[in-house]
Amino acid sequence: MRRFTQTFLFASVAVGAILCGAGRLMAQDAARPWMNPKLAPEQRAGMVLKQLTLDEKLALLHGNGMPFVPQWQMPLTHLANGGAGYVEGVPRLGIPPLIISDAAYGVRGSGSNGRYSTAMPSNLGAASSWNPQAACAYGTVIAQELRAQGFDMTLGGGVDLVREPRNGRTFEYTGEDPLLAGTMTGSMMRCEQAQHVVGDIKHYVMNDQETGRMYVSAEIAKKAMQESDLLAFHIAIALAQPAAVMCSYNRINGVYACENPYTLRDVLKKNWGFQGFVISDWGGTHSTVAASAAGLDQEQPAADFFGPKLKEAVEAGKVPLAEIDDHARRVLYAEFLSGVVDDPPQKSVVDVRKGLEVAQKVEEESIVLLKNHSGLLPIDPARVRSIAILGGHADVGMISGGGSAQVDPPGGNAILPPGQGATVWGRPDWFPTSPLKALRAALPETKIVFDAGDDLDAAARLAKDSDLAIVFADQWESEGQDLPSLALGGNQNALIERVAAANPHTIVVLESGTAVTMPWIDKVDGVVEAWFAGSSGDKALANVLMGKVNPSGKLPITFPKSEDQLPHRSIPAPSAADQAEAKDNPATPHTRYAVDYTEGQVVGYKWFETRHEQPLFPFGFGLSYTTFAYADLSVDAANKTVRFTVKNTGKRAGTEIAEVYAQLPQGADESDYRRLAGWARVALQPGESKTVTVPIDPRVLKTFDAAKEAWNLAPGDYAVFVGGSSASTPLNAVLNLR
Ligand code: BGC
Repeated sequence: MRRFTQTFLFASVAVGAILCGAGRLMAQDAARPWMNPKLAPEQRAGMVLKQLTLDEKLALLHGNGMPFVPQWQMPLTHLANGGAGYVEGVPRLGIPPLIISDAAYGVRGSGSNGRYSTAMPSNLGAASSWNPQAACAYGTVIAQELRAQGFDMTLGGGVDLVREPRNGRTFEYTGEDPLLAGTMTGSMMRCEQAQHVVGDIKHYVMNDQETGRMYVSAEIAKKAMQESDLLAFHIAIALAQPAAVMCSYNRINGVYACENPYTLRDVLKKNWGFQGFVISDWGGTHSTVAASAAGLDQEQPAADFFGPKLKEAVEAGKVPLAEIDDHARRVLYAEFLSGVVDDPPQKSVVDVRKGLEVAQKVEEESIVLLKNHSGLLPIDPARVRSIAILGGHADVGMISGGGSAQVDPPGGNAILPPGQGATVWGRPDWFPTSPLKALRAALPETKIVFDAGDDLDAAARLAKDSDLAIVFADQWESEGQDLPSLALGGNQNALIERVAAANPHTIVVLESGTAVTMPWIDKVDGVVEAWFAGSSGDKALANVLMGKVNPSGKLPITFPKSEDQLPHRSIPAPSAADQAEAKDNPATPHTRYAVDYTEGQVVGYKWFETRHEQPLFPFGFGLSYTTFAYADLSVDAANKTVRFTVKNTGKRAGTEIAEVYAQLPQGADESDYRRLAGWARVALQPGESKTVTVPIDPRVLKTFDAAKEAWNLAPGDYAVFVGGSSASTPLNAVLNLR
């Protein structure tokens, strides 16, 4: 009896507690109707906004410092989880803080955090796959690792057009074509945000060089900007629906990007209907009233202009409350849209295996085979009994991209300081992904010997004594500095020349962040572009060199023969006076330093076409170990599609990226160059044919009328070209648009 009473008592207390808890929950839900995930994000944001005090709204509009950066320490900086920034939430209403990390090609290793993150191939590398699904997998891994590390917002999503290939951040961007770049970055960020992190697209806009980046003015006509850099952003933003867009450091036609009413208010928010928030680049805010009116919603990483000064401006009636409400509503909307309110991140163990697998798959699709004279590749172990591996620290690892994109090398830096896994700003980091070791594992019967390449005579001797010589060449890139030129640094060109002279069977593997000039191109048998290859780069590269994977990547940028072919011979340096002015007043530098983008919208391959210049390797170019033939092009004008057949005419299975270009009607404005209008990846067994239908994207065929702020699609006959690169289009037809 006693036992029964006890059990009964316990059970009733427990049931009572549950009921009571449920009652509390229900009461809480009733008091917080915005916690209902079935409501639209804008509705939920509107409900929360009504509950906020002015101080709570203002707290959403600025950062709280940046760990590891001495000048950006604030009272709440320690809450940033060792990332890039922290924005207070509203705990009483269930709104979580923004805990922000850089994550261009993986979660950044900030300062001495030393966390594990997978490095995917560089963004430019991944763009060479022309595979939106690969970009999606890339973004998914990054988001899952951000969440496992306790972050709920990414600062990835670079989509500035590579109009200046010497820009030190080309590796963070996705190429020179608006459709390709917008599609690849947009797909990556769409999938990243789908994992419940606040997504971001950056650096808006015309952030096309690093020299004088805090004050340079990008000079460009509206029409040209709309049809090039803005178009890339629009395509990415339409695809990703990102919760945030980061405005850039530079000025645009004299006005800072983070206080530019044309690009922020008129284009992004009004014309494109962007409902998320504009976040400034770190230290990219220069005013309070002007920036707020122009459409900047959140200052980062501090509160120099959007902290006490913004409150004063509101109280003085200089910034209307409606503007503050709009900024705050956008931040709240971003949190609901991305799912971080309903599903905040939980720190957990990163799925290392999954990351490495995806990184390898993406790199295998991203490697571009640029030259393969007389089928030297893939390596045939029956014929190649000895291999000389030269240079590029290939005995220990592969290089990675620097700056705020830098990921800590899992396994520790391959080169000094060893074993720490920590990265230092401005110093190149080699991942411990050794191609030498990967090749030795893949070819256990072959004699493979390494030489660092410092002593050219020794390198030539080793090459001479080997059946095959592979020279590894690297070109490091980092935020904060541009490349002085596209030439390989140090003695690398000389090394390649000497090795090629000693052994006719020489292959060059490039680990670069952008295009490379190749004065030795006619002297080598093979060139493989591996980009910054990420955490599994060694395995992916070995698979391609061995033919386990048939390369399919195609260039997302033009490789010029010489820099004389580019629209600008070099990046103009700021004058001493410009630099001094900027230094005197770092918060609001005012200089006349400007770069005039006279080529306008005629970027990359379009420039080469209008100038009748032959590049070293054209945009869209890449070889395979098999061959493909194109036939039977037909167009469907009503549906704006083209149909054609691709056949694998070789002996190996392979994937062809079939590219579709279109040219505006003769006599129309800008009819002197082709534009990429679509593409398809076609996987084919030997001898197999497939007929594919590719939609023509009308956004790239339109021209912008700056006077009317409107887009036109000219009626008439559009020439359509189909083939394996921008310079090889065996099929053509006419698409008549009325
Ligand atoms: C970079 C941004 C980055 C930010 C935060 C800036 O220097 O330009 O791309 O997200 O720092 O680290």
